[in-house]
Amino acid sequence: MASDDAIRATNDEASMCKRFAVQQGYWNDPYIKYFIRSSDRKPPDINRGYFARVKGVHCLLNQFLQATKCKCQVVSLGAGYDTTYWNLQESNMQPERYIEMDFENVTSHKCHFIKSRKPLLEKIATKDGEIRFSKTDLHADNYHIVAVDLRNLIEVETKLKESGFDNDIPTIFIAECVLVYMESEKSNAIIKWIADNVKTAYFVNYEQVNMGDRFGHVMLDNLRSRQCGLPGTDVCQTIDTQQNRFTSQGWTSAEAWDMNTVYSNLPQKEIQRIEKLEFLDERESFEQLLHHYCLCWAYIDGAGVGLENISVVNAT
Ligand SMILES: C[S@@+](CC[C@H](N)C(=O)[O-])C[C@H]1O[C@@H](n2cnc3c(N)ncnc32)[C@H](O)[C@@H]1O
Repeated sequence: MASDDAIRATNDEASMCKRFAVQQGYWNDPYIKYFIRSSDRKPPDINRGYFARVKGVHCLLNQFLQATKCKCQVVSLGAGYDTTYWNLQESNMQPERYIEMDFENVTSHKCHFIKSRKPLLEKIATKDGEIRFSKTDLHADNYHIVAVDLRNLIEVETKLKESGFDNDIPTIFIAECVLVYMESEKSNAIIKWIADNVKTAYFVNYEQVNMGDRFGHVMLDNLRSRQCGLPGTDVCQTIDTQQNRFTSQGWTSAEAWDMNTVYSNLPQKEIQRIEKLEFLDERESFEQLLHHYCLCWAYIDGAGVGLENISVVNAT
């Protein structure tokens, strides 16, 4: 399998893990079943890790939506089969524009599922009932799925324009396990482009960290054995390298936490609930796993909407 195919396949794996965790009751997502019908059993540490990842990203997104009163845009980079668009529609927290980007092989499958599954299709907001589909892209009133290689900045800009992207509206960019699959000069180009062009921006990045130790090397070897190199690991060495990738490209401030810290800051009631779902044998290996992923958030608050107050500490 060529390397780009292996990268696209990481979406299947992430979606299956999420599907299984939802099935086990870790969080609620009535839409994921329309993309992944069923999934093999996953071990409890993986399920808890996904819980922390999804809750961490969503708690920052929800605070951003509240701070901007939903007068904002969401851009999901490497969105895969993410279902956040539908879940926000359901909770009446929809932003003005929601744009998803991924390789065409992924977006074409996503478009096909949406077209053929009524519960997905009927939730997409349209004034006149029109949703424009091509084989790989979808354009509706407030929802856009576009095929793009994120390593090609010109293509990214073109696709954002086609989706009606407005540089002046506060925008949150989400990259959940995506940037590590490209050379850091390519991810830096996106991060810098946003800083140069978007007045009010928030970035949420979830991915590997502490890759320099033994556990990190084993993780990298595993991925390499699946033809899936991680060319962006130079930025995944420490919490500092993760923060600096933003501050060195013109962002006002950035903070990164390893997932142990994120996990212990998530609402304790929720943690107690999910820890009862399955017995976890080896707490230590779970903590090792969480030590090798991080959540990083960065902002530029041109409009003064209070983005500096958004953090995992405020998780509810
Ligand atoms: C691990 S999956 C994560 C999917 C989703 N963000 C989630 O967390 O469920 C990584 C995704 O990033 C996409 N991706 C990686 N590199 C990309 C690139 N250069 N251009 C477009 N998409 C890319 C892959 O196709 C895949 O869907």
